[in-house]
Amino acid sequence: MTEIVALAPRLARRVAAARRAVVLTGAGVSEESGLGTFRGPGGLWEEFRPEELATPEAFARRPRRVRDWYAARHRTMAAAAPNAAHRALARWPALFPSFLLVTQNIDQLHQRAGSPEVVELHGTLMAARCGSCGARRPMAELILAGGTIEDERPPRCSCGGLWRPDVVWFGEELPGEAIDRAQRAAASCDLFVSAGTSATVFPAAGLIALARQAGAVIIEVNPEATAFSDLADLRLPGAAGTHLPALTAAIEACRSPG
Ligand code: OAD
Repeated sequence: MTEIVALAPRLARRVAAARRAVVLTGAGVSEESGLGTFRGPGGLWEEFRPEELATPEAFARRPRRVRDWYAARHRTMAAAAPNAAHRALARWPALFPSFLLVTQNIDQLHQRAGSPEVVELHGTLMAARCGSCGARRPMAELILAGGTIEDERPPRCSCGGLWRPDVVWFGEELPGEAIDRAQRAAASCDLFVSAGTSATVFPAAGLIALARQAGAVIIEVNPEATAFSDLADLRLPGAAGTHLPALTAAIEACRSPG
């Protein structure tokens, strides 16, 4: 059955008048593409401990284990296909004079669904980065090259540094330009959607409060309530693959000239 999102008249008027929209996505948006989320039942952080896999210390201590874990995740992500939620969000740039899609996901499914520009707060697993000189190359190329990341020998850059996934680990700074852009956009938007994120990891989660302070309409898409649900003008308590296409259709309807 196709979901329909009905916007209450006052909300519909505010959404129709919105000029600057921001969407923040998290692992829940890729859940229907078969990628696991981090928290909650069956989440990755239930099976694995983040401090053993997603920190610079873990990589220094057990590079092989960290590389193998990310290589396995890379395989799963590369084999996954974008879902209806990613495809719906690819239509948003046409809906607003200014639109920014901000994601905590490292799977690049938004880009593969056709979103022309995505701010990746936590980096990407589709690229590898040299931990010394900062050079980047496609992760697939590194995996296919001799001295694969699943090899015993740690793959090294020509400068001698170790290749690592181009993701943000716990205890590391977010890419400065990405978080600056996201914060500036959230602090000046009039519509903010938080979709598929538990909103527990900062500074990403702080974007929701920034948008609220800016007076934006806040919409949350998540089957579960989060610490920020109380800030939402509208909560769509269900799957992103159902609710984001329905929300997109509702916004298209209320913004169309007819
Ligand atoms: P989480 O795993 O913390 O949260 C996923 C959220 O998605 C939960 O609130 C679920 O209720 C919701 N969810 C599950 N299925 C869904 C569906 N089909 N549609 C919509 N929502 C659904 O993931 P994030 O919030 O993305 O960081 O986690 C934030 C960061 O914590 C990640 O980027 C990662 C992780 O540790 C790093 O690794 C640095």
